[in-house]
Amino acid sequence: LALMTDWHDWQDTRVDGERLWNRIVALGEIGAIAGPNGELGCARLALTDADREGRDLVTGWMRDLGLTVTIDAIGNVVATRPGTDPRAAAVMTGSHIDTVATGGRFDGNLGVLAGLEVIETLETLDIATRRPVSVAFFTDEEGARFAPDMLGSLVYVGGMALEEALDIAATDDDARLGDELVRIGYAGPFPCPAAAAPHAYVELHIEQGPILEDEGVTIGVVEGVQGISWTELAITGRSAHAGTTPMRLRRDPGFVAAAITTFVRGLTKQLAGAQVATVGRIDVRPNLVNVVPATATITVDLRNTDEATLVVAERALDAEVARLAEAESVSVTSRSLARFEPVEFDPVTVALVEATAQRLGYSTRRLPSGAGHDAQMLARVCPTAMIFTPSVDGLSHNIAEHTTPEDVTAGANVLLQTLLQLADVAD
Ligand code: GLV
Ligand code: MN
Ligand code: MN
Repeated sequence: LALMTDWHDWQDTRVDGERLWNRIVALGEIGAIAGPNGELGCARLALTDADREGRDLVTGWMRDLGLTVTIDAIGNVVATRPGTDPRAAAVMTGSHIDTVATGGRFDGNLGVLAGLEVIETLETLDIATRRPVSVAFFTDEEGARFAPDMLGSLVYVGGMALEEALDIAATDDDARLGDELVRIGYAGPFPCPAAAAPHAYVELHIEQGPILEDEGVTIGVVEGVQGISWTELAITGRSAHAGTTPMRLRRDPGFVAAAITTFVRGLTKQLAGAQVATVGRIDVRPNLVNVVPATATITVDLRNTDEATLVVAERALDAEVARLAEAESVSVTSRSLARFEPVEFDPVTVALVEATAQRLGYSTRRLPSGAGHDAQMLARVCPTAMIFTPSVDGLSHNIAEHTTPEDVTAGANVLLQTLLQLADVAD
């Protein structure tokens, strides 16, 4: 490799925004779904055939670049470009390529493909780094098919035993995670948790909320991730005739599900500030117009940047569920699907992202992440930070999710320059 010895040379390098955009479009064609106004979204739930196709495409690109590709026992894929120092730990970037069932083309995919673009830029310009540079995509970040979310990165850092993860049952079908991994050919030979932690991890992601767009800011400097609490409530009552059963005799799980939904909305007002609450799934059986439901299964997603307040919200929910169960004579089984405390990223790496974005001439704003990310797991084992780009209309987990090509390129350039500094340009 021709080493770039002039400090300013590497500072002037930029990604090829068009090449990155074309890859986002190409990956988005796998599992593509169209919206009513021609929007193009994506349905690649974790470990489905569509996920396999997406994985095959991206690992193919990784191999085309001559990278060393490893697949671990939970299906995480890491592609590495060597550095000049054989003993140095790699600087890692990455994200996920699974989507929710009604997802967009950018959530997760941007971070993986921008990482690939950074590496292709280094290859094309013959820039050597002292440390290896890796780009990863982690299994089942969304948690939409197999809870919890950030599963692959959680196992990668040793936060959940591999065997426990492989045994997780799907929320909506009768698949087992480990079987699906084998079925799609991504139960890899490499150990998980990983043998060694990266030197640092920096992830580029779309904001998925309205703040950057509202304020006209190009680069979000992410200081941390809010706490996440997912609970599944299985409510059992008594199925009965809708016309003949007096209200006093009803044991109606549908009513209780609705009351919980209303309650958590009220809770967000009561805990005014950062508290958010969502009932995203309501599954009522038998789901018929003239039958009082026999069961209702719902999920409650509570999040807060403040752990103490999140605990208050969880306790309030528990108390209200118990009160409703008694009042309506239904039984409720509660199961935690995910629980992650708020995470603070490494202040030095956060400051590096901020300074780098500003040096490149972009407006910046510090903010917490409202969504969960693989970065919050990597933060357990190495200095970690994230870069956000704006989301049009603040939309995500929606097929209309969009980020402009200019913002995609800006984010990838901040990623490139940040990784170059962390990986030490060789001289
Ligand atoms: C998952 O990534 C989430 O934030 O829901
Ligand atoms: Mn994501
Ligand atoms: Mn997502």
